[in-house]
Amino acid sequence: MRKTTTDSPGIIRRKLMIQAICAIPAVIGGTLSAFAGTYLCARRRVAGFEWADAGDVSLMRDRTPAQIRFTRAVADGWKVRAEQCSAWVTIDEHRNVTAFAPQCTHLGCAYNWQAEKKQFVCPCHGSKFNVRGDVIEGPASRPLDRYSIKLEGNRLWLGPLKDTEDV
Ligand code: FES
Repeated sequence: MRKTTTDSPGIIRRKLMIQAICAIPAVIGGTLSAFAGTYLCARRRVAGFEWADAGDVSLMRDRTPAQIRFTRAVADGWKVRAEQCSAWVTIDEHRNVTAFAPQCTHLGCAYNWQAEKKQFVCPCHGSKFNVRGDVIEGPASRPLDRYSIKLEGNRLWLGPLKDTEDV
């Protein structure tokens, strides 16, 4: 003998409400997971360093540092904005290119190249660096920071600052 169950409309409505209530946490969880996934993927995308085109170096003279300016994309939370940056670029007699960050490694002041002394000199506390970025005179205790670089023909591309150990 076959048993059939027929629920009353009130019971059906109660079951539907219970199912709906049980589904709410799943919907909230799914939505939060989607937002988290989007956020993490976006963070990963902008956390990856964007190389910046720093211009043509074909006309630079050996051992004569030149300050160049370039624009780089900087991630600021969800926003990516263009930031004006600079670097001191030198080319040695073998055409090896080095790009120094423009801040003194003592307390971050902007330094300058003094051609007559062939030194980078910081005006704040007098640190001096040679053309390779090594400290000649303190108070700075470590060499100038360097950008990662790559050349495409004569175009110089600048990447993140290197770790001091990489130099
Ligand atoms: S910031 Fe350059 S010497 Fe102090």
